Amino acid sequence: MREKNYSGILLFLIGVLSLSSAWSQTYAKHGMVVSDNQIASQIGIDILKKGGNAIDATVATALALAVVHPQAGNIGGGGFIVFMDAESETTTIDFREKAPLLATPEMFLDAAGNLIEGSNHKGLKSVGVPGTVAGLYMAHQKYGLLPWKKLVKPAIDLAKKGVVLSYTLASHARNIQSGSSPEFMKNYYTDAKGKLLRYGDVWVQNELANTLKQIKKHGKDGFYNGKVAKEIVDYMTKNGGLIRLEDLKNYTAIERKPLKGTYNGYDIYSMPPPSSGGVALIEMMNLMEQANLDSVPFNSTEYVHLVAETMRRAFADRAEHLGDPDFNPNLPIDWLTSKNFAKERYGNIDFTKASVSDSTKFGQLYDGSNTTHLSVIDKNYNAVSLTYTLEDSYGSEMGSPKLGFIFNNEMGDFNPQPGLTDRQGLIGSDPNLIRPEKRMLSSMTPTIVAKNGRPYLVIGSPGGRTIINTVFQTVLNVLEYGMPIKNAIETMKIHHQWLPDELVYEKDLLSPDTQKSLEKMGHKTRDVKNLGRLMGIMYDPERNIYIGVSDSSSPDGASVGY
Ligand code: GLY
Repeated sequence: MREKNYSGILLFLIGVLSLSSAWSQTYAKHGMVVSDNQIASQIGIDILKKGGNAIDATVATALALAVVHPQAGNIGGGGFIVFMDAESETTTIDFREKAPLLATPEMFLDAAGNLIEGSNHKGLKSVGVPGTVAGLYMAHQKYGLLPWKKLVKPAIDLAKKGVVLSYTLASHARNIQSGSSPEFMKNYYTDAKGKLLRYGDVWVQNELANTLKQIKKHGKDGFYNGKVAKEIVDYMTKNGGLIRLEDLKNYTAIERKPLKGTYNGYDIYSMPPPSSGGVALIEMMNLMEQANLDSVPFNSTEYVHLVAETMRRAFADRAEHLGDPDFNPNLPIDWLTSKNFAKERYGNIDFTKASVSDSTKFGQLYDGSNTTHLSVIDKNYNAVSLTYTLEDSYGSEMGSPKLGFIFNNEMGDFNPQPGLTDRQGLIGSDPNLIRPEKRMLSSMTPTIVAKNGRPYLVIGSPGGRTIINTVFQTVLNVLEYGMPIKNAIETMKIHHQWLPDELVYEKDLLSPDTQKSLEKMGHKTRDVKNLGRLMGIMYDPERNIYIGVSDSSSPDGASVGY
């Protein structure tokens, strides 16, 4: 078990004044919100107490995160919602960013046709048409109860009155100022006179408050039409960006049928493409069903080998097959998520040695690791799992000073160089090449596991491609190893993504003997400090209680219930 983050708990004690929080586990009877920020989680709970449902609380929490967790919380990015409606079918809302109309498959290449290193993650050309406001608005219009204005107001108040800079944000502020950030970020964590704010100072965001006011007043149109849209386009046009009014007007969120898998009598609902998360999660759970895990001790060499080989296969399939379904009508989703395919895939695992990832066909793509997840449940058992992102931490690090929010750099999630796949990590396969209006492939894996038709586990994480694997292991820990949610989130995670061919594990949480045995089997191992930052809720049907846990790796995160 990973040790708790005691420095975080100390900060919690110090932070009573600053309202910053730390690792938390909460029990509640009526509702729960778990997010990367205590203030945002509390706003969600306040909405539930006022008669809002899980969707209302999600909208208010997500908008608040755009103010208090700006490294990933956003209105300038995109993401996905999985919604288990107690009265109806489970559904999803896709508000992934889209390539602008002016985008081309070769836009990040030089005259010789080679990728200009880093260009797909830098500057305004890396910005996809944002989807967050459209997604939250659609969720509210279809499933919310309270008036939209009530859900936007708490975020406006936070931006206008200011938030106390937490230890984490204060260190971001220092790094941004001392680094080579664009002008927009240089002025980000500053007071009215341009002075850099420090831990405990109050940070007011007037421009963001004004943008949010437009969204409060006009709903989706407050972002995609009118004043805000005009300023986005002026800023883009003057500074070499590609987004135009038509892109904003054309943007719509899409309601999609969730992917459904099963595991030992549980139902697993997750996100279909353009996320690769749901497909890979269900494929891996199906492979686990093939194994007799009763005789495989948790964290043994056998366990880690089996899980790593499963990940290797799912990530190879992800690279080869997945992309935006609206541009790839024949994605083999049913096949990849079928029990028969799992039998086939499981059948070629060698239990004595590591397989070799073949780079001659498909490689893997870098994608950003700063995303944020929130899990919500209300008193009527409606549950929401939402993951959204700017791609990198602070996305493109660019935005209009008049609007006060940061644009994503999500174009970097497309395959940047058509036809070129290599061991260094480029993928050139067709399903995820850039096309105007296409959504880039994602790894976000917002998931709800249900038992007897009720939500049992609401879970998700940031972490780029590691998202898929940390969500997978947390679900497996609960469903197969019977762990309480706290243990399932905190215990050792590994990550394998086919290419590069390496088995990554959390430092100090894998026994040195196991690591050596894995090396002997042919695995190249590498340690990292941490994998995943999971935000989850579990329902205990016997006691009729919700248990919320925010991962100890989230310094400001909190589960709040009532
Ligand atoms: N930007 C991270 C993802 O979508 O997977």
